[in-house]
Amino acid sequence: AAYDAEGYTHFMRKEIHEQPAAVERALRGRLDLRFHTAHLGGLNLDPREAREIRRVKILGCGSAYYAGQVGAQLIEELARIPADAEPASEFRYRNPVVEADTLYVAVSQSGETYDTLAAVQELKRKGGRVLGVVNAVGSAIARECDGGVYLHAGPEIAVASTKAYTSTAVVFALLALHLGRIHDLSPADGRRIAEGLRALPAQIEEILKQEDRIAELAREYAAYRSMLFVGRVRGRPVAREGAQKLKEVSYVHAEAYPASELKHGPLALVSPELPAVAVVPDDELLDKNLSTIGEIRARRGRVLTVGHRETGDDAIVVPKNEPELDPILLSIPLQLLAYHAAVALGHDVDKPRNLAKSVTVE
Ligand code: AGP
Repeated sequence: AAYDAEGYTHFMRKEIHEQPAAVERALRGRLDLRFHTAHLGGLNLDPREAREIRRVKILGCGSAYYAGQVGAQLIEELARIPADAEPASEFRYRNPVVEADTLYVAVSQSGETYDTLAAVQELKRKGGRVLGVVNAVGSAIARECDGGVYLHAGPEIAVASTKAYTSTAVVFALLALHLGRIHDLSPADGRRIAEGLRALPAQIEEILKQEDRIAELAREYAAYRSMLFVGRVRGRPVAREGAQKLKEVSYVHAEAYPASELKHGPLALVSPELPAVAVVPDDELLDKNLSTIGEIRARRGRVLTVGHRETGDDAIVVPKNEPELDPILLSIPLQLLAYHAAVALGHDVDKPRNLAKSVTVE
């Protein structure tokens, strides 16, 4: 039968609900529970070469870039290799310095995004080593790279990326585990992460069970014209992706800010008309995040928290995993929030105005 949204009103909702299975597929055959590492067959990188890597630079556009930011943090935390993500669209135009001991990673669901492809071509021209983290098998970006990892997320039809975003973050966790175990990650920490990864599909199911309540919150928050999304360090790309999702499908203006930067400007905007979504995992930055929430509430801004405890005016609580993997779970409620806000406002969820699923032109 043709792939359709049967049983679901929209592809976006169908794809949100496919995430436990998509993550299962991203992990299948890749976790080594004996040596507490990950095997990624298509990397074309032997351990000696992997040890030589001094930097990782991740490139992608939109949600692929935000998933790349989650990935950069995972690599830096687990493998202790300096890593960052940059929009491919910026990288390709700024005449970047390409270094032999940097591993470049191009991220794309479609594998056809022109800016990302152009960044890969620029890298190849300058002799850079590029891996692809791609969903579409045999796509232009996958073919252009020196090696890579497929997401195996299955077709993603809705313009707003959900399962590909999550699978990308999971693949980066695998890559971080693999590189970490070659660099300095201990077997005990490797095991902790491998077990955390295995727990993800069931934990995502748990979050999806809260859909009715999240839909209720979405209906309330959809009444605002604009929203702030704040997160710190691990929560920051989650906030950025949450804001992007909301903007894309509900057309509610949303701005993501690092929580610690609020006091340097955007706090001036906070009022009863500007609510905030705060990404607040129970990690070593919890106290800092709680004080940011206090600052917003002191200015009578309504706060919806996504984290591991009931705080703020409204809260969505997700299961706890390992702190490094928490960002993967924290994104899921924000997808449902965006989806149900768009439905409440009567928008064409799968095909938002002005957007294409994959931007194959300059
Ligand atoms: C995601 O919700 C967006 N529609 C968009 O940002 C997308 O992630 C971006 O255009 C990159 O697409 P790609 O993963 O197919 O390269």
